[in-house]
Amino acid sequence: MKKIIAAAFLAPPLAAAAVLAALLLHHVALTPSCEKRAGESGIACRAVIAHRGASHDAPEETAPAYLLARDLGADYLEMDVQRTADGVIVALHDDTLERTTNVGEVFPGREKGPVSSFTLGELRRLDAGAWFNARYPERARQSFTGVPVPTLEEIIDIADQAAAPPGLYIETKSPELHPGIEVELVRLLRRRGWIGNPAKRGRVIFQSFSLESLGKLAGLAPDVPRVYLVDEETERDRGSWETLVREARAAGSGIGPVGYLAYPWHTGPARRAGLMVHVYTINLPWQMRLITLFGADGLFTDRPDILLEIRGRGKGEAPDAILARHGF
Ligand code: G3P
Ligand code: CA
Repeated sequence: MKKIIAAAFLAPPLAAAAVLAALLLHHVALTPSCEKRAGESGIACRAVIAHRGASHDAPEETAPAYLLARDLGADYLEMDVQRTADGVIVALHDDTLERTTNVGEVFPGREKGPVSSFTLGELRRLDAGAWFNARYPERARQSFTGVPVPTLEEIIDIADQAAAPPGLYIETKSPELHPGIEVELVRLLRRRGWIGNPAKRGRVIFQSFSLESLGKLAGLAPDVPRVYLVDEETERDRGSWETLVREARAAGSGIGPVGYLAYPWHTGPARRAGLMVHVYTINLPWQMRLITLFGADGLFTDRPDILLEIRGRGKGEAPDAILARHGF
């Protein structure tokens, strides 16, 4: 009798495990290996992509977030690029400065103005750190107050100054607001030796929600890998995951789905179609493990510290200690 009861309890989880194993075997194990692709392309395998820098512990897309991500050992520094009124490429996520700076105090009435309506000189008057202290008091540091919106060149300096520089994972954000930014971006990266340099193969990756922007980048710098970012809305608009995979493939890009789309029956077919799959934005350890098991080639994360530990690549220096070492 006891055996029958035990079997009744064990059968459902065993059946579920068998189904999961079959799914993984079918969709994930039988796909090209991340290691093989990494060897051919120079792109880090099981990449740790520091989303807006190490943005859990420091204000997103600022120097402390990028210094921290770099010193933790992230493979790539992720950033969203836009262009100022006087033509300087800067890193900022939102179309406006309202959420992450004190623009309302410094330039009252211009809160809703696009980044492209401010000169670099004007951006330099803004504080891109105080909002973080107010929103996350448990992670606040007085020294974050006053940190500026960085230029792309300043982030490149941060990468270049490392003994083993991290890569740059650059998103053209709202490219329709910055016509021609692709040309200027590629020109800048060439001048700084990040494009057209065999030693940097796979160390720059372009990403965008805009296939048009990716197409322009492909024409300007065909050897730089690209990733087509997609979310549930994109899937709804385009009709199906299969369409997204087809479009990414036609664009010569990998695919960067939001975590909710990173099922094995999505990642498997994408990888079998030859696409690299980098999933955003994954911050919880169980999600990092599961989505990696589902076949992701890399993860965007605000917590490169945690993901590096999971990968067995932690360097043993705590985020607090790294920030302090840099004067934060
Ligand atoms: O670039 C990957 C991910 O960053 C896309 O989302 O909104 O954080 O730029 P978002
Ligand atoms: Ca981004």
